[in-house]
Amino acid sequence: MITTEAWVLPRGPGDGTPGELRLERISFEEPSDDEVLVEPLYGCWEGNMTHALERSPVDVCRQRGEAGIVLGNAGVVRILHAGRSVRGLREGDLCGLASGVDWDPAGYPKTILGYDAPGTSGVLAKRLKLRPEQLFLLPPATRHSLPQWAAFTIRYVTAWDNWQVAHGAWQLQMKHMAQRPVHVWSWGGGVGLGELLLAREAGLQATMICGSDRRIALCERLGLQTLDRRRYDGLAYDDARFAGDLAYRRRYMQAELAFLDDVRQRTDGAGVSIFIDNIGASVYRATLNALARQGVIATSGWKTGLQLAVNRGRECIARHIHVYTHGSRNSLEASVHAERAGWLPPLDEPAWPWDRIPELAARYGRGEVDTYFPVFEVNPP
Ligand SMILES: NC(=O)c1ccc[n+]([C@@H]2O[C@H](COP(=O)([O-])OP(=O)(O)OC[C@H]3O[C@@H](n4cnc5c(N)ncnc54)[C@H](OP(=O)(O)O)[C@@H]3O)[C@@H](O)[C@H]2O)c1
Repeated sequence: MITTEAWVLPRGPGDGTPGELRLERISFEEPSDDEVLVEPLYGCWEGNMTHALERSPVDVCRQRGEAGIVLGNAGVVRILHAGRSVRGLREGDLCGLASGVDWDPAGYPKTILGYDAPGTSGVLAKRLKLRPEQLFLLPPATRHSLPQWAAFTIRYVTAWDNWQVAHGAWQLQMKHMAQRPVHVWSWGGGVGLGELLLAREAGLQATMICGSDRRIALCERLGLQTLDRRRYDGLAYDDARFAGDLAYRRRYMQAELAFLDDVRQRTDGAGVSIFIDNIGASVYRATLNALARQGVIATSGWKTGLQLAVNRGRECIARHIHVYTHGSRNSLEASVHAERAGWLPPLDEPAWPWDRIPELAARYGRGEVDTYFPVFEVNPP
């Protein structure tokens, strides 16, 4: 058996009480011939880890039927030992996590390591064992830092996949209008940032909506146009209140109209061509109203709520395309592009130390972490 230290999320009582990480010694069996033993070097705190701590939308421990789980599906690891039948990976290799566990026949992930895949451990452990297909080799002698690659492994890989589908969907209907400017917008977050940088590489107009001066400054440094979300105080849609609370409804409509006014001005009246919305319920209505005809709403996330009402008639008549994706089957392809084009997460904060991970979790949950990419140390080299 191998024994190691890990931050464990215990199963909840079943009433939705949020969970807390506990530092424990955990043990697991030695890797078999087709597995590798790894030490994570850096991980990155992800939205799904907070969803798991908040038991929202489910208690993942209960869903997996386990007493406690080790989260963490974004990170960079070093191979400590490769089983006899493992090909292409050797002791000492540096790899990123390609975190799918259970793949559909087309190669797209259905369940995710260190999250909803039963029996798996994530990078909140000092050691873990993996199958080779859960890893991709970092480019040899990479020009980029290991913390950047740790931040890359979920947010940018998801961005790569979502962007290919979203941009392809726009082109399906609008290729014959190639001379018209294509406006790509995103609500905040690291996935959206990655997609906007791909949009800019493709020569499109890319705009990030930001909620802090620091994020505005970062996005402008990266060459993106920005919009300050604080201008639209009250832009947080709530269906029940919208129906029954007149004062709330007035305030909401004022905020949405101010937002749509800015959309019109910035897009010459056409609306947003591709809108990356990983936020969900609170902004979904505004996102749809901001879309151009033939516009694409693209998502892989549901930060403020996952149940959404949609007027199918309006969406059909406007020929809107709704793109939904989850994870990626192309981590390696994305990493090759990243190395060549320098398309990696811009890190603007040092990594959080291992023993302060619960504090990082609490701050991220309260929306108090300013960076888009909260990297943490596990076994820093
Ligand atoms: N399915 C997948 O494969 C996959 C992969 C990665 C992420 N996700 C999910 O996608 C979502 C976004 O993830 P992320 O990593 O890009 O970002 P994130 O770390 O969840 O941060 C989201 C950003 O949203 C903005 N924000 C917060 N509350 C908001 C609100 N009420 N209205 C508008 N903006 C708000 C904040 O930026 P400002 O304050 O600057 O506006 C914040 O930086 C999460 O739910 C995550 O779990 C899914």
